Amino acid sequence: MEISVIGAGYVGLTTAACLSEIGHHVFCADCDLEKLDSLRVGRLPFFEPHLDDLVKRGVASGRLEFTVPSDAIKKTEAIFICVGTPPLENGEADLSSIESVARMILSSAHGYRLVIEKSTVPVQTAKRLWKHLSIYNMNALTFDVVSNPEFLREGSAVEDFFHPDRVVIGAESLRAIALMKEIYRPVLQSRSTCPVHSECPAVPEPKLILTDTNSAELVKHASNSFLAMKISFINLIADACEAAGADIEKVAEGIGSDKRIGRAFLNPGIGFGGFCFPKDLQAFVRIGEKLGCDFSLLKEVEKINVRRAEQFVAKIKKELWVLRGKTLAVWGLAFKPNTDDVRFAPALSIIRRLLAEGTTIRAYDPEAMQKAEIDLPQITYCQSPYQAAEGADAILVLTEWNEFRNPNWKQLGELVARKLIIDGRNLFSADEVSPNGFQYIGVGRAVQAIRTAQEFKGIAAAGVLDVSAVSQPAPAQSHAVRTSV
Ligand SMILES: NC(=O)c1ccc[n+]([C@@H]2O[C@H](COP(=O)([O-])OP(=O)(O)OC[C@H]3O[C@@H](n4cnc5c(N)ncnc54)[C@H](O)[C@@H]3O)[C@@H](O)[C@H]2O)c1
Repeated sequence: MEISVIGAGYVGLTTAACLSEIGHHVFCADCDLEKLDSLRVGRLPFFEPHLDDLVKRGVASGRLEFTVPSDAIKKTEAIFICVGTPPLENGEADLSSIESVARMILSSAHGYRLVIEKSTVPVQTAKRLWKHLSIYNMNALTFDVVSNPEFLREGSAVEDFFHPDRVVIGAESLRAIALMKEIYRPVLQSRSTCPVHSECPAVPEPKLILTDTNSAELVKHASNSFLAMKISFINLIADACEAAGADIEKVAEGIGSDKRIGRAFLNPGIGFGGFCFPKDLQAFVRIGEKLGCDFSLLKEVEKINVRRAEQFVAKIKKELWVLRGKTLAVWGLAFKPNTDDVRFAPALSIIRRLLAEGTTIRAYDPEAMQKAEIDLPQITYCQSPYQAAEGADAILVLTEWNEFRNPNWKQLGELVARKLIIDGRNLFSADEVSPNGFQYIGVGRAVQAIRTAQEFKGIAAAGVLDVSAVSQPAPAQSHAVRTSV
């Protein structure tokens, strides 16, 4: 099929490249002409695993072209809207880019158009879009408006396109449903060759959920709010673990082993960020208000998340005493690993607070430094985690990149001013860090912090605990008293 994708950002470019990979002829369009020029010479505006290859292949095959929106809309029957819907001051989604695409469709298209809303939008947006297109319809266009929310995760976006859990289609005409099924057929039937795996894991075919547009729109906001709620919930429990002397990792395992709950998204830390959860949660709260529904549950989820950065800084302060004049190594800036996206990244809000306290920040991130530098030009960007650690009073782990998992502790120990890891993502554990002579402070891990390895062995001897992982002798000084949790 001939398809246009309007908006060449994380969602739009991934959608365009993947649709071309499954055989469609795709015109990917953006209002940012510089971005289009870069894309035409094969330079991607962001980092996303496997996307580079896919774009190159699409362009080489002639099935992926980059152009301006009016040209794309003129040439294609199906139009995916993938523009940004950032938050307004009051938390509502800014829909001005969606409206501007609608105007472009009205002025550039003739005949029939399938308008597919993929951007995350408030419930009833498809209805409003339909009304807007009907009122200003000077070219006697015939059209359908469909909601097709996107669930990709940055860092595994290509894989998520080829192996989605579900494809949600909110449509109100048979013609629209038939076209949408045609577009997604290779994915729905798992017939496409996924470019991520040499051999795809045996996963069930994705579920196709056909519904009305309002319901499809609600699925997206409700899904993101639910996941955000899980994260805030486990963060609350992590606070309780710190206060009561318990181990959040075991508690999360215990909770998550219940099939009704599941282990995913029960990872405590410095909170959620990115271009989806914080803004979608805020927008959903505003939607609830407009609908006259009491969404105070979600307001709490948001409050808990905002507090994470404050609490983390308080933890650093408690351990380091005076912050002014201290040097801090920051490992990780992106809101999560495998992306360069720093939008609403907790790392950035923590760094801003630390700068206000008078610290010097030396940061390293495998992918996100260029983007972070736009917001935070005043910190030092380093070439490696080791360079960032030079002279540091503490190493702060703010994104759980794999690259950080197995450091050369000896080398690190020689570089830092103080051997202290404050781990905002529980990437490490005290058992792993302490034998290397570093003090460890994680999230919700009071038990590991107050028990030495010898004590664990004592318990094991009593036959209560499997401590096969505790093979090294405990460091001479227990961190019981020094740990600030
Ligand atoms: N990033 C994610 O992980 C993700 C996942 C699911 C859904 N979403 C939703 O998808 C939408 C897009 O998100 P994104 O992360 O790709 O945003 P983005 O900022 O990376 O990309 C948006 C693109 O749209 C372009 N654009 C804006 N107005 C335009 C217009 N009038 N005409 C043509 N192009 C225009 C911008 O130049 C930009 O390139 C948002 O609603 C977001 O909430 C994002």
